[in-house]
This record gives sequence, structure tokens and C-alpha cells, in this order.
Amino acid sequence: PAPAARHPLDTIPLVDISATGLGPSPLQQAMELARHHGPIFRRRLHGRDALFVSSLELVAELADEERFAKGISPTLHSVREFAGDGLFTAYNDEPNWAKAHDILMPAFAHGSMRTYHAAMLRVARRVVERWDRHAAAGAPVEVADDMTRMTLDTIGLVGFGFDFDSFTRETPHPFIDSMVRCLQWSMTSVGRAPGGDYRAVDEAFRADTDYLASVVDEVIAARTASTSTRAAGQRGADDLLGLMLTARHPADQTPLDPANIRNQVITFLIAGHETTSGALSFALYHLLKDPLALRLVQREVDELWGDDPDPDPAFEDIGRLRFTRQVLNEALRLWPTAPAFTRQPRADTVVGGRYPLAADQRVTVLIPMLHRDPAAWGDNVELFDPTRFTPEAEQERSPHAYKPFGTGQRACIGRQFALHEATMLLGLLAHRYRLVDQADYRLRVKETLTLKPDGLTLTPRPRTAAD
Ligand code: HEM
Repeated sequence: PAPAARHPLDTIPLVDISATGLGPSPLQQAMELARHHGPIFRRRLHGRDALFVSSLELVAELADEERFAKGISPTLHSVREFAGDGLFTAYNDEPNWAKAHDILMPAFAHGSMRTYHAAMLRVARRVVERWDRHAAAGAPVEVADDMTRMTLDTIGLVGFGFDFDSFTRETPHPFIDSMVRCLQWSMTSVGRAPGGDYRAVDEAFRADTDYLASVVDEVIAARTASTSTRAAGQRGADDLLGLMLTARHPADQTPLDPANIRNQVITFLIAGHETTSGALSFALYHLLKDPLALRLVQREVDELWGDDPDPDPAFEDIGRLRFTRQVLNEALRLWPTAPAFTRQPRADTVVGGRYPLAADQRVTVLIPMLHRDPAAWGDNVELFDPTRFTPEAEQERSPHAYKPFGTGQRACIGRQFALHEATMLLGLLAHRYRLVDQADYRLRVKETLTLKPDGLTLTPRPRTAAD
């Protein structure tokens, strides 16, 4: 008899996790599987397989835009339940992707950051006011909550002229709770056991998506209402919402349709703050644990702003905070807060010289493992070391070793936005405070599709002449 045909993926290790399920930390679970089974493995869950890779060698191939494009994983597909054909979740061939990309790109050009600087600084000062109160009381701050307040207020004001006013609230804006539950719903939906009863979960999810949609309506209505009722700080028609509502596509002179605008608003409200908040939280975690790195950030900001307790950072100052930026880069190396992206071959192909992939075979890149590949990062990959991002070190490394913002034409549109906002806040906080680790915090990484340091607190104290 003829030998049974082998499945083309048979040479790749297969691990069935149906018995344990995904658990609360699917990404960290996948990292463990990668540590165990190597840089390419298949994960089987209730009969559904997903393919993961994590080495520089393989990711360098997947980054080739001629051979691969963004893939929409089942998880990302489920995010479409609330973000629809917004930029993040659109299929490559959906016409609305290219249309919205072309219309919104100008809002992310380098020159646009200059126009956002003042509003970003205004929100950064809200953090400082809050931390001053905690410092005076000797009370710890909840780091991720405050970073989320700041990044949500920033994208709201800068992108939409809408003030979420998160710092006058006891608890974060209800948008956050609903969003987190929606993201969790998406994260866990791929792990559903057959025959399970998910009606209550789905009903709660629907209530949350309805609420998110109502916030979107509020944001749009605030713009279309009369000038007198607009939130203070609202920018002109050239901000994100202005472009969404009025700009026409150069190719056919049509504007974005109303359903797509709502999807873009929800996409930017989420993508525009959630990951930046996590990045800042991890960076503060590292500065809390690494006095030398904090010292070097302080030296850098002191050189710019001296001992003025209330400096007025200029737009150009932020580009000068090189070491501060390196701290953020290194925080995003160890814990890239959008920790996976998916690629899909444009045609049948072979990767790594021996793994055949069919054109519909999606491959998910585990970014934290790519960022720990010794081939790119040396022997001490767990060590927090911002000097990995000096210009010289970056020159020597493959451009594919570091992908916290994804790759290719579907890479993050908001990268400069996030880095400007985050570098400025980190600089201001390091300039003003010592960071006290009053709880002897041990890192636990919480997953809600994105990553955050779970339960991180620290006590800010005013710096004295001695420090
Ligand atoms: C796409 C990460 C901040 C808006 C992406 C992707 C990654 C990423 C990995 C690619 C996803 C994929 O390939 O499936 C991050 C990180 C951030 C950050 C780590 C902060 C540290 C932002 C900000 C904005 C934003 C501030 C908006 C103001 C978007 C959008 C996309 C995207 C709209 C989809 C782009 C497209 O496909 O056309 N981001 N992001 N992100 N990001 Fe970000």
C-alpha cells in the first residue's frame, strides 16, 4: 500500500493543551511552550491548531513583505466584534484599510507630533499633580492605573478633542473596565471548550460593546455639537477625528463611511492608549528596580531642565532624551505590550529551509521570545540593559530582532505618538521624584490581550539636592 500522505506541518512539534486550556495567561503559556519545544511549534486546542514562531531567523523571513502579509488570527478576528474594519483589525484586502490608512497617515507624520506636544504635556502634568499629592501623603500610587489615565486622556484630547478627565475620578473611566472585559473576551474566546455554556459571558460582552459604542457616539457628538459645548483643548479639524469626519480619499474623493468612522474611533481609543500605558508601567517597574538606570535618566533630564521643579519641556527636548528612550525600548524588548502579531504567506512557501507553509497558513510571532533570541541579544537575555539600544548597538543588530510595533505596511501607525508621549512623561517623573519600592514588588505580568505589570505600586518622593 502507498504510505499515508504526511501532513506538510508534520515535522513541526505539536503540543495539545486541550487538557489544561489557555488559562489566564495564554501568551506566557506560549512562551513556556517555545522554551520547551523550540522556535517553531504547533499548539492544538480543542482540535484547532495554531502555529507559533519566535526566532530571529524565522521572523526575518516572515517580515519579507513580498512573501508574507499581516494575518488576522482568530483572536484578532474576534476583536472585530467591537472594532470591525478599523485599521488594526481590517483584512489587507478590505478597501477600507487602504482608504483609512491614506486618510489618517498625515496625522502621524513627524510634523504632527509637534502640534500634539502641548496637549501631551498638559496631560503629563495631571500625572505630576496626582503623584505630588501621593508624595505629600507618603502614599503609594497604582502605576498602571495612572498610566492608563494619562494615555487615555492623551489620545482623547489629542486625537478627538475629547476630555476623559480621568484624573478627577476616583476610579478609571468606565470605558476602561468595559474595554478590558472586551479584550479579555477576545483573548479567551479561542480557548472555548466544545459544549461549554457561554451565554452569560456573551451577554455581558454585548453589554460592554454597547457601552463602548455609546462612548464613541459621545465623542463624535461632542465634535459635531456647537463650539460652546466643546471640551476645552479641542484641536482644529486636522486632528484624527477631523480627518475621519471630513477628509476625502485622494483616489476617489469619497470620505470614510459612518460605520467605518465608528470602527476607527473605537480602534484608536483602544490601540491609542492601552499598549502605551503598559509600556510606561513596565519602564517604571524597571526604573524602580534599577537605581543605576534611574540615575542615568535623571542625569539626562537634569542636563536639560536643571533643578527647575516645573520645567517646560520643548518639543525638541524629547528627541534629546536618548537614554530615557533607550529605557523604554528595553522595557518593550522584555515585555512588548502588544505581544504577538500574525503573518500569512502570499503563496505556498517554505520557511527555515524545511517547513512548508500553505498560502492560508497563519503564523503567529511571539514577540517576547523573538526579543529573547540569543542570536540577536546575547547570553543574558533576561537582563534589563538599556545600552542594548545605543545607536552603535542598533547598527550591529538585524532590523528584524526587535518588533514591538509589528512589521511592514501593517506596522503600528502610532509609534512616534507613543514614544513622544511616553518619553516625555518618563523624563518628567524621573526629574521630579525618587521612586520607593515600598512593597518589595515582584513582577507578575497580567494579560488582557496586552500586557501590564500586575499590581505594581511605588511611592514617589520629591527629589532633594542630594539625589
Ligand atoms: C498596529 C504595537 C501605540 C495605533 C500595531 C501593531 C503593533 C502595535 C505590534 C501591529 C499589529 C499587527 O501586526 O497585527 C503598539 C505598541 C504601542 C502602540 C507596543 C505603544 C507602546 C499605538 C498608538 C496608536 C496606535 C499610540 C495610535 C495613536 C495602531 C493602529 C494599528 C497599530 C491604528 C494598526 C495599523 C494598521 O494595520 O494599519 N501597534 N502600538 N498604536 N497601532 Fe500600535
